[in-house]
Amino acid sequence: MDMNQQLTAYQAQIEKALEGYAKTWPAYGDMQAAMAYSLLSGGKRIRPVLTLAVCRLFGGEPAKALPFACGLEMIHTYSLIHDDLPCMDDDDFRRGKPTNHKVYGEATAVLAGDALLTAAFGILAGADLSARQIGRGVSCLADAAGPAGMVGGQFLDLLGEGKTLTYDEVVQIEALKTGCMIEAAARLGAIAAGSTPQEEEAAASFARKIGLAFQIRDDILDVLGDEAEFGKPIGSDAENQKSTFVALKGVEACEAMVDTLTEEAITCLADYPGSDFLCGLARMLAGRTK
Ligand code: IPE
Ligand code: IPE
Ligand code: MG
Ligand code: MG
Ligand code: MG
Repeated sequence: MDMNQQLTAYQAQIEKALEGYAKTWPAYGDMQAAMAYSLLSGGKRIRPVLTLAVCRLFGGEPAKALPFACGLEMIHTYSLIHDDLPCMDDDDFRRGKPTNHKVYGEATAVLAGDALLTAAFGILAGADLSARQIGRGVSCLADAAGPAGMVGGQFLDLLGEGKTLTYDEVVQIEALKTGCMIEAAARLGAIAAGSTPQEEEAAASFARKIGLAFQIRDDILDVLGDEAEFGKPIGSDAENQKSTFVALKGVEACEAMVDTLTEEAITCLADYPGSDFLCGLARMLAGRTK
């Protein structure tokens, strides 16, 4: 299987599992529909793919990592629903469709996000792994998604609106709001595989680098992207006066940063045979247009 076929196979495995979870939620009013609307709306599934691929790299069975992968993707989805709300980035399009609150209203969008977040931890808890692995997985995801991770980064992102932040402050925001969840995706794969601490740290270092590159690429596409392909509004960051790398350094410097971070990421996995897929994925993400 070449890289694209492997990617498609992982994405299909994730899609099917997410559809299965969505069927178990009760349909109180629009609750289930709103949750499924955002969860099953064609995201790239980069984070759960990372979980499955890291699990395989360290000799684990990717299917066993699926609950970890899907739980993380549900938290990612909730973070996008809330990120788009009028009280945050106030965006009308996501994954090529009207945002959750545009379709279902703000109260339902907030609750759909809350429900995805909470259900995610139940899914991790039900994984067919040892109690120690589950405990470590839950703790890892809680750290990455919470105040010292994604939510903390979102907080700083909002606080930074209208200000000119320093380079280090922008690194901190982007690493927290996006890098932490991408690092957790890799760690969850390592935990599900029963990897050694050294293996887990190598995967985490790889993911921290591609995570930062991923957010810088997102900031570039917010300026240069094609709206139909990117699936979300162009110019949202400028409109909200966000302090992004692009605002600070300009597009060209940012493109160079993405390339450097990607090559540095790849060296983190140099000792591991079988890392071709992950290295190929890193390079693909560096040049992504959506
Ligand atoms: C969007 O993430 C938010 C960022 C952290 C940049 P993705 O680009 O992974 O969005 P989907 O899941 O594919 O829609
Ligand atoms: C990352 O930042 C969002 C989350 C952590 C949810 P952005 O606000 O740039 O993400 P997009 O561009 O709306 O997807
Ligand atoms: Mg935002
Ligand atoms: Mg946003
Ligand atoms: Mg963005």
